[in-house]
Amino acid sequence: SYAQARLLVNAHAPKETISRHIYGHFSEHLGRCIYDGFWVSDTMQVPKKDRIRMDVVEALKKIKVPNLRWPGGCFADEYHWRDGIGPRENRPKMINSSWGNVTEDNSFGTHEFLELCSLIDCEPYISANVGSGTVQEMNNWVEYLNFDGLSPLTDLRKKNGRDKPWGVEFWGVGNESWGCGGNMTPEYYAGEYRRYATFCKNYPDARLKKIVSGANSNDYNWTEVMMKNIPLNMMWGLSLHHYTIPKNWGDKGSATQFNEREYFLAMRSCMEMETLIQRHSIIMDKYDPNKRVGLVVDEWGIWTNVEPGTNPAFLYQQNSMRDAIIAGTTLNIFNNHADRVKMAELAQTVNVLQAVILTKGRQMLLTPTYHIFDLYKVHQDAKLLPVQLAGPEYNSENDKLQAVNVSASQDASGAIHISFVNIDPNKDITIRTALNGSSWKNVTGQIITSPKFTDINTFEQPGKIVPAAFKGAKKEGEELVVTLPKLSVVVLELK
Ligand code: AHR
Repeated sequence: SYAQARLLVNAHAPKETISRHIYGHFSEHLGRCIYDGFWVSDTMQVPKKDRIRMDVVEALKKIKVPNLRWPGGCFADEYHWRDGIGPRENRPKMINSSWGNVTEDNSFGTHEFLELCSLIDCEPYISANVGSGTVQEMNNWVEYLNFDGLSPLTDLRKKNGRDKPWGVEFWGVGNESWGCGGNMTPEYYAGEYRRYATFCKNYPDARLKKIVSGANSNDYNWTEVMMKNIPLNMMWGLSLHHYTIPKNWGDKGSATQFNEREYFLAMRSCMEMETLIQRHSIIMDKYDPNKRVGLVVDEWGIWTNVEPGTNPAFLYQQNSMRDAIIAGTTLNIFNNHADRVKMAELAQTVNVLQAVILTKGRQMLLTPTYHIFDLYKVHQDAKLLPVQLAGPEYNSENDKLQAVNVSASQDASGAIHISFVNIDPNKDITIRTALNGSSWKNVTGQIITSPKFTDINTFEQPGKIVPAAFKGAKKEGEELVVTLPKLSVVVLELK
């Protein structure tokens, strides 16, 4: 069966720039993300620079990863940066008590992370330790990274092989300080934030963009207390974490075996992002009407049960057509809130949670989510075009969700890109679109779809879900008419 929708794209009213930084990724010392993900053994037969896997780097470059957040997550608040510099054989080992009590050998530290970022050509976003660190430790890390003058720490950096400072700007002051980052009350953390942030110094050519550890999903009080107690000029951003949980925290549901009801519930949990951004923004607007502070959704994505037989602390999960729908939907939400959402990071790049890449020995697999980021990269730094959509609902039992979501932008060359998601697994949807203020002539597009929401790419069949040319869009009079197959993500280019 099929349904109809109407869309208006206001091409005469380009708005904010969609910051490319909302297309960011997150990589923690967790499971096989860093170790056996990005960073492999000396003996593994894959193209490497030092121990960094270059096939992974090349794949991330292709989707234009704008930033990478590191070293956590929960791990950030037990990480001591000095353990990860200097000759590797001298680096102390530690226990990664956040993620399975595995031994962390600190072979991947500051220099290795910044080398990785430079290979990917993305900006580093460092999450620094508040929970078990000190103000001095954080102050010293910034100096080691960013100071170009004479000091014992710059000498040390030079001795360790890096002459010029890196100029790191994105700087997280703690992570989930309400939970694994120290179980602090919001009032207590706001005070700590002010103290820590005071000693994170700006050096020439490296003005820090300091990011406050923000709310867990709908903890609106946390946002309120931060905005009320921290002066606007002391923060560049305030974070928000929200995960899509298909069932519940105890039993999150399988990544690959679920029925339509569970699919629906996952989509509902994903689409809560819209409400969360709206409501956190209302609170931020009260204290910051000029929107100087960005909302930084630095952890998002679907979190399911781990793949059977894998370490439960490693959070390794497969990635399905459902994940593609979740990614497309969430990125549309971020685009449409470009006035407030300035940055976001999907959790977590390789082998953890909603990964864009999975690896198995020498093999590398691009997930359906990867391909969404590939198609959506056209929105990076483009001007948001406001949209109005009237469309059908997707119903399950007595619940309903909007079946289609969309965002549109115009790039520097004048081309318009519209990304559509049809979350309905049963209905094709035809959308008639008017584009006010645009005299476009030609439409081309790409689609990501698969018959079942449980479909996945595997190491044996890596090309099951990949982008294909889309033929379902045409010009009728002045209107754009698009038929979105059920369960699909389509990105169009109008010129
Ligand atoms: O991404 C996994 C974990 O989720 C992170 O370490 C933590 O910040 C969050 O609770």
